[in-house]
Amino acid sequence: MITAEQNDLITRVGAGTPAGTLLRHYWQPVALAEELAPERPIRAVRLMGQDLVLFRDDEGRLGLIDRDCPHRGADLAYGRLEHGGLRCAFHGWLFDVNGACLETPAEPEGSKLHTRIRQKSYPVVERSGIIFGYLGEGEPPALPAFDCFVAPDTHTFAFKGLFECNWLQALEVGIDPAHASFLHRFFEDEDSSAGYGKQFRSTSADSDMPITRVLREFYRPEIRVDPTDYGMRLTALRELSEQNRHVRVTNMVFPQAIVIPMSAEMTISQWHVPVDDTHCYWYAIFTSFTEPVNKEQMRAQRLELYELPNYTSRKNKRNNYGFDVHEQLNRTYTGMGHDINVHDQWAIESQGAIQDRTRENLGATDIGISHYRRMLRNAIDAMNQGKPLPMQLAPEQAEQMRGPASIDGVSSTQQGPEEYWQEADRTRRNASSWAQAWQL
Ligand code: FES
Ligand SMILES: [Fe+2]
Repeated sequence: MITAEQNDLITRVGAGTPAGTLLRHYWQPVALAEELAPERPIRAVRLMGQDLVLFRDDEGRLGLIDRDCPHRGADLAYGRLEHGGLRCAFHGWLFDVNGACLETPAEPEGSKLHTRIRQKSYPVVERSGIIFGYLGEGEPPALPAFDCFVAPDTHTFAFKGLFECNWLQALEVGIDPAHASFLHRFFEDEDSSAGYGKQFRSTSADSDMPITRVLREFYRPEIRVDPTDYGMRLTALRELSEQNRHVRVTNMVFPQAIVIPMSAEMTISQWHVPVDDTHCYWYAIFTSFTEPVNKEQMRAQRLELYELPNYTSRKNKRNNYGFDVHEQLNRTYTGMGHDINVHDQWAIESQGAIQDRTRENLGATDIGISHYRRMLRNAIDAMNQGKPLPMQLAPEQAEQMRGPASIDGVSSTQQGPEEYWQEADRTRRNASSWAQAWQL
């Protein structure tokens, strides 16, 4: 339980707020590369309450600039891409990717007005299907050499989806290993061969026990939290028998990403990105250590739930998330279908637009959450005192920051969990066509 002031401190992200200023020290996903359609690569984006326009100019350079035209405030997202920039549709002022005003065509011949005009622009970088922007002051930090960034394009797939609630709730469900045994419980196990591209649907590594059974029958995990240089590692242990232990290793990457196993082959690196205080997008990179990702299948699966152009969920509070009484009685814990994204969406949206944390009561399983909130508050304090922040990486540090290991497997109880996941990670890397070079 925290005070209303403490809750505001860690949830509000508008310009000038403490958490908002902190998050602006980091690269943030602003769009999927696929959102910049080839015929007109312009997209309005909203990030932490700021309205921006993202575009690719006629030379292929990416630009991210404020959305309101510095002439008289018209919407640049309706502009025209021509002559090396984005042209406002109102009076034709032209801006390049750096926000320089190149032309003010209605002004008198020889006018120098354009030399005094500048639109605010932000650094942009495209990695593994996601376009990241940097809204902070000064130089952006380097991106780490995580698997999702170093894997070849053939082995990654990116997607996103909207949650109608504050970003912190979305992040907190990802650092809560206990919920999977309840929220995502299925009363029957399916043929795991139909589990491609889905989480909690196949078997764990080194085991033929369906993960659905592990979660259902062993619902009281021991949860360990270890601080790391990138944030924290969560280890959830489930003793399956005297001989076997289920080990699930997930990670929080500061400030708002998680890296988790999806199946024995794939991991998910997921950012929870505030649109404003009461909406957020999850952006995920799915990374395969084995075969190239079947992108068409992954995309088609996700488009069953998410609707373009805004990646909104077809199941939402306006249709009770598809809740079905008979399904809840007979087949799933929630009665909301088999897509675990819907379960998570219901869980966090039903906490309220911004969860009122003055009324919560954390338990022992919430250790990851309390640890994370402490990290966030400490980082805000450090920022206010001008001290160094976590994950502000120089290029040489970024090169050394790898993985992070995300493992879901069954080990012998003879072996310590740490030893097990390190070995499982090594084995997976050594068998991979690309990850071998990126040993931890
Ligand atoms: S408002 Fe944009 S050019 Fe006039
Ligand atoms: Fe979940």
